[in-house]
Amino acid sequence: MDHIPTNKIKLAVLPGDGIGPEVIEQAVKVLDAVAERYGHFFSYCYGDIGAIAIDHTGSPLPEETLEACRTASAILMGAIGHPRYDQDPNAKVRPEQGLLQLRKSLGLFANIRPVTAYDGLLDLSPLRREILAGTDLIIYRELTGGLYFGEKEEGDRQASDLCRYTVEEVDRVARLAFEKAGQRRKRLTLVDKANVLATSRLWRRRIMELAGDYPDVEVEYLYVDNAAMQLVLNPSYFDVILTENLFGDILSDEASVLAGSLGMLPSASIGLQTSLFEPVHGSYPQAAGQDIANPIAAVLSAGMMLDQLGLQPEAEAVRLAVTRVLRLGVGTPDLKPNIGCSCSQFGDLLASAIIEGEEFSPRREKMEAGASTII
Ligand code: NAD
Ligand code: IPM
Ligand code: MN
Repeated sequence: MDHIPTNKIKLAVLPGDGIGPEVIEQAVKVLDAVAERYGHFFSYCYGDIGAIAIDHTGSPLPEETLEACRTASAILMGAIGHPRYDQDPNAKVRPEQGLLQLRKSLGLFANIRPVTAYDGLLDLSPLRREILAGTDLIIYRELTGGLYFGEKEEGDRQASDLCRYTVEEVDRVARLAFEKAGQRRKRLTLVDKANVLATSRLWRRRIMELAGDYPDVEVEYLYVDNAAMQLVLNPSYFDVILTENLFGDILSDEASVLAGSLGMLPSASIGLQTSLFEPVHGSYPQAAGQDIANPIAAVLSAGMMLDQLGLQPEAEAVRLAVTRVLRLGVGTPDLKPNIGCSCSQFGDLLASAIIEGEEFSPRREKMEAGASTII
């Protein structure tokens, strides 16, 4: 039965800019391996977003792309962004607008960013093993409110970004975070700046009220400046972190150091319509086209997508493949591994690990690839 297609699933795939297409190619390779192993059929509908979409259509989120996203079972995205716009603060149209519009249009109010310190990487981090050991946290970042979406005024001599939150916006992401904490180590940390910001005080008041509905979850409150320090000082303390849009953006890049590289962190954005799965990292333009980017964030994002599609064993197989390959000491250059490999070689190893399962033998892989750098 293993190889009879049983499950036809339509996916929207948005590779985007910079390293986006390279890491997405590996994620699709891994999905194809999952399809082969478990007898599924994934159909991929590719669409443009970001700088490439501006080049092709003038818009960072063409209508065609949005439509493909709306009609898919899930969306897998790479990254957007191009130095052309990063260096031009006067640009009227920007790649980032495409991603923000996509999140807003689909009502993707919760961005879930798990951070795991893999065993095979503990000695490669700039942080000490004993600090990292046991790190397993998950950030719930509010994604469609706050400073990102408040009214903007942009003059030559003056500019402002409004930060606004409503109780409804706080509640919907908070409830997801509470539920997750209830299934994990039962600790929820709200990160805010309630000593200064009115929006943070609204968050804090609401979380105090909601806490009554989740008596088994221990709730803690931490100011964002302190949280930034505690994250690297005592990371294993954290279980679920709940925070607003901008703080979540900043803290997740910081948290990536715990995982060894920004190239390790996946995310899921969920909300009112089709869910979106994308790495936490950006388009890393310095590496574009060089086949050196770490594809793990994109691959684990595809893993989170499988979870959301109800394919738990398949998602587990993806995570197990990552663990196994990392344990061999193999990795892309950002990880400073014992055995270096390229982005596409890493994707090949993951695909083999999934297809071969218990039979997976990296020695045989080396012989087949004829590679000198892999085991
Ligand atoms: P970035 O995340 O692209 O890269 C920052 C650094 O992280 C890189 O210099 C590199 O050292 C490391 N890194 C990131 N991804 C990696 C990977 N897969 N493998 C190995 N190392 C990796 O952030 P940036 O340089 O500040 O931004 C570049 C562009 O990306 C900008 O245009 C920005 O707006 C955009 N951006 C997009 C997203 C997104 O698409 N979700 C996220 C962040 C930034
Ligand atoms: C991310 C990115 C985006 C954000 C940018 C590119 C709009 O940094 O997904 O983390 O700030 O949300
Ligand atoms: Mn970011």
